[in-house]
Amino acid sequence: MALTTFLATAFGVLSIIYYAYKHITTLQARKRLAAQHGCQPLMHFVPAHNPLVDFTIMKESIKAARDHTLLSVIQARFQKSANTFGARLIRKPIVATVEPANIKTILSTHFKDYSLGARIDSLGPLLGMGIFTTDGAIWAHSRALIRPNFAKDQVADLASFERHMQSLLKLIPRDGSTVDLQSLFFSFTIDSATEFLFGTSTNTLAMAVAGREAGDAERFAVAFNVAQDACAQRFRRGFLARFRRDPEGDAATAECHAFVDQFVDEAVRYRADVEKGLAKEDKYVFLHELAKATSDKRQLRDELLNVLLAGRDTTASLLSNMWFMLAKHPEVWAKLRREVEQELQGRLPTYEQLRNLKYLKYCMNESLRLHPVVPSNSRLALVDTILPLGGGPDSKSPLLIPAGTLVTYSPYAMHRRTDLFGPDAADFKPERWETLRPGWEYLPFNGGPRICLGQQYALTEAGYVTVRLLQEFERCEDRDGGVWEESLTLTVCSRNGTKVGLTPVEK
Ligand code: HEM
Repeated sequence: MALTTFLATAFGVLSIIYYAYKHITTLQARKRLAAQHGCQPLMHFVPAHNPLVDFTIMKESIKAARDHTLLSVIQARFQKSANTFGARLIRKPIVATVEPANIKTILSTHFKDYSLGARIDSLGPLLGMGIFTTDGAIWAHSRALIRPNFAKDQVADLASFERHMQSLLKLIPRDGSTVDLQSLFFSFTIDSATEFLFGTSTNTLAMAVAGREAGDAERFAVAFNVAQDACAQRFRRGFLARFRRDPEGDAATAECHAFVDQFVDEAVRYRADVEKGLAKEDKYVFLHELAKATSDKRQLRDELLNVLLAGRDTTASLLSNMWFMLAKHPEVWAKLRREVEQELQGRLPTYEQLRNLKYLKYCMNESLRLHPVVPSNSRLALVDTILPLGGGPDSKSPLLIPAGTLVTYSPYAMHRRTDLFGPDAADFKPERWETLRPGWEYLPFNGGPRICLGQQYALTEAGYVTVRLLQEFERCEDRDGGVWEESLTLTVCSRNGTKVGLTPVEK
């Protein structure tokens, strides 16, 4: 007994000595690293009620999210404090920044010093281990698998867009009565993304036109929305999410998996048949291309769902945010319509023509500046590392970031900095893009090794839909009356939809 007590005490004492030693050597190493890089301490903080465990930021954020004002609350924190400030999220130290040089460091020059943090905890149940949820070697493998599918310039299929467009047009009232374009845009992007990824579209728009009962594919579209919402809720709740059951989210997730698995099984069979000469490749299908590189069914399912999540709401949100502003700015709408009329003279656009519509590009850039659809993001420091800005009273000196710090950045707040975009930074002015050539201060698609793979696809899709609407309607009236308010999940779109009245062109 005495020996056991002695051993237990000795173990306890040795552990304390070991941790104290480790703590002291870590602090010394950090001090040396900070001195080497000329770091100054972080001087700006969100005032905490308790220096070790603080709920201030969390409570304020939950309230702002409920009031649909979280993005402007985040922007105000930077305006009140500094472009880089510190805070504590319960126990975790956070550094928040809107400095382009810092964001470039996190995403590009010191990419390997950071990970996605706990993203897999919230998105993993639906997305598994795919490009959007993993880091390191697993992520690099995913990216290498997926990237070749986006290498072609003309990755988006305009003929497929036109088919879904025909259904969308039929769902817009011809008598100028109010329509919410936002819900049509979300249907459009799931229909086109599933066709691109699986080879079979959910066809929700065509089903709505035909007034048909929901089939498997449409039920998948509904289940995907529910499962995605469950991801967003887990994301918001952080570690508290593990204490909450969500049977509806779990059932929707299982339904999504079962639906996608049918396509995966079929693709693996098809690939084997092509190799044996029993089937011929016809049209381009993303899944069939992936199945050339792997027959791992779990990986195929995960990657499909990852790309669907990355690509669907984002493009629909760009469209609905942009059309919200177009409806509020008749002069921009008229100018854009003139460009489309002059350049296309009523013909369907080709890739080349879409790319050459300058004012269309300015409008999309401006929408993504004012309402970046991925408005905030974060990375977790894996090692002790340095940011070029944020230290000292003026925040202009380098700053030490200890391992375990969550570094958050907000494209929404950065895109509205008046010192970067001028005193009218809060206004929707596509004309500013005539001369604007931003670097890291404009970041709708991220940058560095994890830059968005679908940027071209998204701009082609949003551009195509916009051009076709402008060709079909000669007037667009705002039926909302209010200002843009956020509906924030993993992406952000207008809380009140995109309500307009459209007058058809007389033919
Ligand atoms: C306006 C539309 C879009 C915007 C604003 C957008 C924005 C972004 C952003 C900010 C990221 C980085 C996320 C992060 O690392 O934390 C990202 C990643 C990604 N996006 Fe997009 N995206 C759009 C459309 C699309 C589309 C249409 C696709 C595919 C069809 C797509 C595929 C991806 C993929 C696969 C990644 C993960 C890249 C990686 O981690 O290596 N995106 N996107």
